Amino acid sequence: MFKKLAIGAAFALALTPAASFAAGGGEQHIEDFSFSFEGPFGTWDKNQLQRGLQVYTEVCAACHGLQYVPLRDLEALGYSEEEVIAYSAENFEVFDPELDDFRPAIPTDHFPANTGVGAPDLSLMAKARAGFHGPYGLGINQFFKGMGGAEYIASLLDGYTGEEKEEAGTILYENKAFPGGWISMGPPLSEDQVEFADGHPATVEAMSEDIAAFLMWTAEPKMMERKYSGFVGVIFLSVLSVLLYLVNKRLWAGVKGKRQH
Ligand code: HEC
Repeated sequence: MFKKLAIGAAFALALTPAASFAAGGGEQHIEDFSFSFEGPFGTWDKNQLQRGLQVYTEVCAACHGLQYVPLRDLEALGYSEEEVIAYSAENFEVFDPELDDFRPAIPTDHFPANTGVGAPDLSLMAKARAGFHGPYGLGINQFFKGMGGAEYIASLLDGYTGEEKEEAGTILYENKAFPGGWISMGPPLSEDQVEFADGHPATVEAMSEDIAAFLMWTAEPKMMERKYSGFVGVIFLSVLSVLLYLVNKRLWAGVKGKRQH
């Protein structure tokens, strides 16, 4: 018994540094936004994803890329084939090696790659960042502090304090969510920068949430299918457990039932 306890304690101690590291650089502040796709039964809010796409197209695409996302996938946000064709051609140009020239993008192309210096690709950003990795770095933060990556992105965009400083020729902007507190990306969003077709308010906070939701979708477009198959799996295993319990009872009935008291 004592040995078991000692092993448990040693294990907990070994995990502690990982946990404090995972919680993120001390003062880093990640807001726990509530997204429609959180939790086992959460689903995408397609209007929100469409607004996020608009913010991406009008603001972020100036520097960032989404090179792993095919434009045709946008149909999943509720657009028709014609709308995706029009959107691709209107907004992006791609280099076609066969033509040896640029041409308007078509749905089978991907979003263009980064153009801004030092701006990372955003395709998988929502999966590459997390505010909080869950107790002991277990990665089950959904149960404790929301989604992680999407929350980090929304907190980052809404986390500028307005302070800036120059360091080695680069201007750094103070940000509450960025590890270390200073980021080289200037505040990309400002109030009413984008006009949404659905009349949704375009405050910095609202736009931050919309673009974060959209980037969660680009990073995991099949999230709903994953949740659904997980749910089917759990139902299947529950039924199987009941059947196995009954089979077990019947198999042992002959032996256990005859016991004389
Ligand atoms: C003017 C160019 C520019 C625009 C516009 C811009 N960014 Fe950035 N972004 C950058 C640069 C440069 C970095 C790298 C910053 C660093 O590491 O210090 C960056 C970094 C990021 C990061 C990664 C932060 C991290 O944890 O490493 C995210 C997420 C991000 N941008 C999201 C966005 C979103 C969303 C938009 C649109 C609302 C946007 N950016 C608009 C230039 C830009």
